[in-house]
Amino acid sequence: MLGCKVFFSLILHLNIDKQRMKAAITTTAKYLPASILSNHDLELMLETNDEWIRARTGISERRILKDSDKATSYMCGEVAKQLLDKRGIDADEIDLIIIATMTPDMLFPSTACLVQSIIGAKNAWAFDLNAACSGFIFALNTASKFIECGTHKKIMVIGADKMSSIIDYTDRSTAILFGDGAGGIILEPAQEEGFGVLDACMYSDGTNGKNHLLMSAGGSLNPASHDTIDKRMHYIYQDGRQVFKSAVIAMAEVAAEIMSRNNLKSDDIDYLVPHQANQRIINATAERMGIDDTKVVSNVGRYGNTTAGTIPICLAELDEQQKLHPGTKLVLVSFGAGYTWGGIYMKWQ
Ligand code: UT7
Repeated sequence: MLGCKVFFSLILHLNIDKQRMKAAITTTAKYLPASILSNHDLELMLETNDEWIRARTGISERRILKDSDKATSYMCGEVAKQLLDKRGIDADEIDLIIIATMTPDMLFPSTACLVQSIIGAKNAWAFDLNAACSGFIFALNTASKFIECGTHKKIMVIGADKMSSIIDYTDRSTAILFGDGAGGIILEPAQEEGFGVLDACMYSDGTNGKNHLLMSAGGSLNPASHDTIDKRMHYIYQDGRQVFKSAVIAMAEVAAEIMSRNNLKSDDIDYLVPHQANQRIINATAERMGIDDTKVVSNVGRYGNTTAGTIPICLAELDEQQKLHPGTKLVLVSFGAGYTWGGIYMKWQ
């Protein structure tokens, strides 16, 4: 009888251990619209100049999804099709689709349901997650838990924003910063212990964040009306200096926390993948971490801030450049509206 109990508890233990296998990224993809909006183009629209934009942000150009009939779901669909193709699987193998975005095609249905329809992922459930610029890492952390508990085998996580749909191109303080783009991954159980998404620290602070970076109309507080349109309330408002200060502190602190929790020294990390809002924020984070410039991923110069798109686009580019190998150690960090921020430590499998 006792032998039987021991046997069953061993089986249970083995199953739990198996269920606790970490989640690993197996495939990456990105989509950037072809149309370029350069600093010189913006000079013709606003009182700004290329030198100021490059010195203050590191941005030279950004991509814009021009077709008025195409929205965030289109960019996600392009990413999703590439992901399936690269992984060599059918859409019906996907269990769950999470779309991180703050520019959904419409308030409902979710953009995730639209993407499910585009690729025909009939066995997937699907939902959107809104954590602004931290959307992708919040979604990646969420998806990892569904893999770790053993109930899901293949999850698509896509970060995408059509920022041009909520930018006031008469406001030079925000128009220069943002671009459109999408990036995504397929997440699956890691094949070996010690690989995949190993740790995550996530934070939100609505008390200090809610008034500094927002779009005040279009939701249930200020539904669309002539008044909200006249007051330009359907565009992004940002207190740039305030957000900048908070971003520098929070990104450096969360990077330090994830490093110390995992006994990582800066030399141990192969790549820091920071949210791409401003090259000065990226530099300050890297400096506080003591990490060499060559290990800091940056494409903000070419794409601007694509909000939930930045980190998965960076991952897709690292992958295209064949810089991701079994054992490559990555720290992802982000900060955005809410405020929301966080860090993820992962070892590529
Ligand atoms: O991803 C979500 C999180 N968002 C961010 O992380 C963005 C955080 N903020 C920033 O990146 C920066 O604060 C900005 C790039 C938005 C602004 O840079 P800054 O160094 O903080 O500039 P500032 O707002 O302090 O403005 C400095 C000066 C001002 O002129 P005065 O008052 O000194 O005469 C602005 O009016 O620069 C002026 N200015 C501009 N000049 C030329 C502001 N925007 C522009 C512009 N072109 N586009």
